[in-house]
Amino acid sequence: MKAIQFSQFGGRDVLEYVEVAKPLPQADDLLIEVTASGVNFVDIRERMGVYARPETHVGQDKVLPRISGLQAVGNVVAVGPAGDRSLVGKRVVVLLSSGGYAQFVTARADRTVCIPQDADDVMFAAMPTQGMTAWLMLNSSTQLHPGESVLIHGAGGGVGSMAVQIAKSMGAGLVVASAGSEEKRAFALSLGADVAIDYDLPTWPSDVLAATAGNGVDVILESIGGEIFEKNFQCLATFGRCIIFGSTRGPGKPFEPRRLMSRSQTMTGIYLPVFDAKPELIREGMKYLVDQTVAGNLRAQVSVHLPLSKTAEAHRLLEERRVVGAVVLDPRY
Ligand SMILES: NC(=O)c1ccc[n+]([C@@H]2O[C@H](COP(=O)([O-])OP(=O)(O)OC[C@H]3O[C@@H](n4cnc5c(N)ncnc54)[C@H](OP(=O)(O)O)[C@@H]3O)[C@@H](O)[C@H]2O)c1
Repeated sequence: MKAIQFSQFGGRDVLEYVEVAKPLPQADDLLIEVTASGVNFVDIRERMGVYARPETHVGQDKVLPRISGLQAVGNVVAVGPAGDRSLVGKRVVVLLSSGGYAQFVTARADRTVCIPQDADDVMFAAMPTQGMTAWLMLNSSTQLHPGESVLIHGAGGGVGSMAVQIAKSMGAGLVVASAGSEEKRAFALSLGADVAIDYDLPTWPSDVLAATAGNGVDVILESIGGEIFEKNFQCLATFGRCIIFGSTRGPGKPFEPRRLMSRSQTMTGIYLPVFDAKPELIREGMKYLVDQTVAGNLRAQVSVHLPLSKTAEAHRLLEERRVVGAVVLDPRY
């Protein structure tokens, strides 16, 4: 089968379009013929080796060569020796820990959800990792209560655009979306955000305060880092919770935790692979995402659909902040 693999960490040129052996399903795993494979910003961090550095303390299990890819849609073509044979022929969406950039992938049965035979596979392939991260932040890292206000950074991206929709469907009182371009801000508003701000303007925290009658927001979903990270605390409400899920611009300056005391604020982090220890929560999240998508209440926006062989181009577009919504690969080419 064809796959995109890298044998050393580095820039986009380490990605190789290669012929590799089809994986074999073990235990109750499923073998899936992939029809659409979703790309994540995380795949870029993995390719760069950021997760493999000791100072990051996460993802040090990455061994080379590696096939990235955290989510896919496809048809079940075989199951492992202990697998459920009735699943063969079913169309499924899967949340993976690797391997999605390929024509076939093996997946854990408990990370797989059946979708209708006529479902839009490209749209579903853009949902599992981004949607799960967004859902977990609002249902596990904190519990978003109806009426509360939320600031969602990078709201024109994969996780951010899912978070806007999930927060709204959970009854958020006010969703403030940040993004660096007019097009992405318009997209976030079209998904249900109440206010969209430009966080490339240094005064953006004043815009958040203005939208919340000077109180600040109850919840911040923070993925940017850099100079944005520090500014969050100018517009986080008393009792507010800041959830860190990424650092697209690097980690920013060290933070003094005692400053959280004076306004009884909370800061927490989230890293999806750690939730392997909570399979029932992942199952609940997958079911929520699929049910809401089938019902038409949740939609992953795919603005770039490229052949698998052009994965490096997909990474470039994400790295250069050119993508509105998400990128999906077509494994046939
Ligand atoms: N903790 C976890 O388990 C977990 C899981 C999934 C994703 N993540 C992280 O969540 C973040 C978002 O992931 P995603 O898949 O939604 O990514 P994405 O689709 O690429 O969206 C990220 C957004 O970040 C903004 N951004 C700001 N500065 C950027 C920069 N220097 N380079 C690239 N983008 C920049 C861009 O919006 P503007 O152009 O509007 O600024 C972009 O739309 C990433 O940091 C990713 O690593 C973490």
